[in-house]
Amino acid sequence: MDKKACYEQLMPQVEAVIKSDQPLLGILANTCAALHEKMSWLWTGFYLVSDDRLVLGPFQGSPACFAINYGKGVCGTAWKTRVSQVVPDVERFEGHIACSSLSRSEIVCPIFGRNGDEVVGVLDIDSEKIGMFDETDRIYLERVCAMLSEVWKDDLIH
Ligand code: SME
Repeated sequence: MDKKACYEQLMPQVEAVIKSDQPLLGILANTCAALHEKMSWLWTGFYLVSDDRLVLGPFQGSPACFAINYGKGVCGTAWKTRVSQVVPDVERFEGHIACSSLSRSEIVCPIFGRNGDEVVGVLDIDSEKIGMFDETDRIYLERVCAMLSEVWKDDLIH
């Protein structure tokens, strides 16, 4: 199945999770689990804005860095620039933070709060393959982040 077909199959499931009216923590956990289960990725997860840094949120994959500063790494760059970062080769991204030595390419999409203004977190995905992510990933993953924006709240567990 090609990538677009995978996403098309996935989106209704992800949409149902996000619109489930459940606590945000569970929504984030199930969203990354649904994505990760379907795709052959190394790491799929969320970092959440807390004051001046990103803190590790729900994820699937190996243990990762607890916190990333504003503007640092691919995640901090997506936060600062407010623009998705598609990184075909992490070794060519200055300042890339290697949580796993196996990671070769990465995509990070910002998540905006309900007012659509401030960045409240990022969706971060790593692959063992060079050049894994492209425009198709960016479009679908930004759609996932846009759905999350609609249900975002500061309280994770109620
Ligand atoms: N590579 C990321 C750090 C997080 S891990 O990929 C899970 C970065 O450079 O921001």
